[in-house]
Amino acid sequence: MVKRKPFECGIFEDLEVAKRYNEETKNRIRHLSGSFVSVAKKWGIVDGKVLDFGTGTGLLAIELSKKIPDVEVIGLDLSDVALEVARKNLQESEQPLSVSFEKGDAEDMPFKDSAFELVVSSNTLHLIKNPIRMFNEIQRVLKPEGRFFISDFRRSGLGLFSKHIRAAYSPKEVKNLLSRSKLENWEVKDYFFWLSILSEK
Ligand SMILES: C[S@@+](CC[C@H](N)C(=O)[O-])C[C@H]1O[C@@H](n2cnc3c(N)ncnc32)[C@H](O)[C@@H]1O
Repeated sequence: MVKRKPFECGIFEDLEVAKRYNEETKNRIRHLSGSFVSVAKKWGIVDGKVLDFGTGTGLLAIELSKKIPDVEVIGLDLSDVALEVARKNLQESEQPLSVSFEKGDAEDMPFKDSAFELVVSSNTLHLIKNPIRMFNEIQRVLKPEGRFFISDFRRSGLGLFSKHIRAAYSPKEVKNLLSRSKLENWEVKDYFFWLSILSEK
């Protein structure tokens, strides 16, 4: 296993980089959103509030709202330029959607306790400086019966070729972080290229 190498700064700072990322990930996120939607539906989440932290250019938040139209989705990110692209994506949507974007830190979320039915995130965990603080925040902002589904890269030998995979956690490391956090009832699924952290059945 290659040694983990964290990012110095995991926040989009350049508008052109955020725009390019948006174009390059559109199809992948559309595909990925299917698994978020089916898990949410399996859990019976059809309305209420959903948080997508590290929303980036907002593609997952927008897809969730299209496919579960009665939920109110909030996309949270620390990057002004990513949020600018996210708001443009939302404006360009062909249907009115219940989505908004807010600037804020996943380690110190600007939301009240017990505000959300569901917290989701994709491709962001490996960029968070203190994941334990972030897991604690998920526990705080979720309703008592709330659910979470976080998907991210999984570190492997491919980390020699990708700085994102190199910054990612192994399943064992993620379980260790989770066990030191306040987040309850989690399970970690290992898919070799990526991993999921989700509420237990
Ligand atoms: C690789 S992008 C993923 C974007 C999107 N979720 C996706 O799957 O395409 C990671 C995002 O996390 C954001 N980010 C990094 N650290 C953050 C933090 N502490 N709080 C909120 N957002 C953060 C970055 O600005 C960036 O937009």
